[in-house]
Amino acid sequence: MTTIRFIREGIDIQCKPGENLRDLVLKEQLQLYGLKGILGNCGGVGQCSTCFVSVEGGTKNSLSPLTRVEEEKLKNRPDNWRLACQTLINSSAVILTKPQSPPSNLKDLKESTKNKKLPR
Ligand code: FES
Repeated sequence: MTTIRFIREGIDIQCKPGENLRDLVLKEQLQLYGLKGILGNCGGVGQCSTCFVSVEGGTKNSLSPLTRVEEEKLKNRPDNWRLACQTLINSSAVILTKPQSPPSNLKDLKESTKNKKLPR
């Protein structure tokens, strides 16, 4: 088992390596989508660009490499953004959901999670 820390929600979720990040978020009933994605998303096939997450911690290989779809869709986005539907979990990582609408206390959330060791 591995752990994904969701800093906006303040929770750690155990999952199996190889699990899809979008599937995990939805299974745990966390909010992945902003309004646009709630009103209409592609169901996880990499077409709508509404399932953004940012990777705030972990190792270089914590998540699967960018897919071709992500390389195209994330061209003008920060380097640490992913499309959850295109991302497989390899090992523990720290994730921010909906980075396009960051919480006002994001800096504090990042600081507080730094001191909490992430299980491998
Ligand atoms: S759910 Fe549409 S791109 Fe990820």
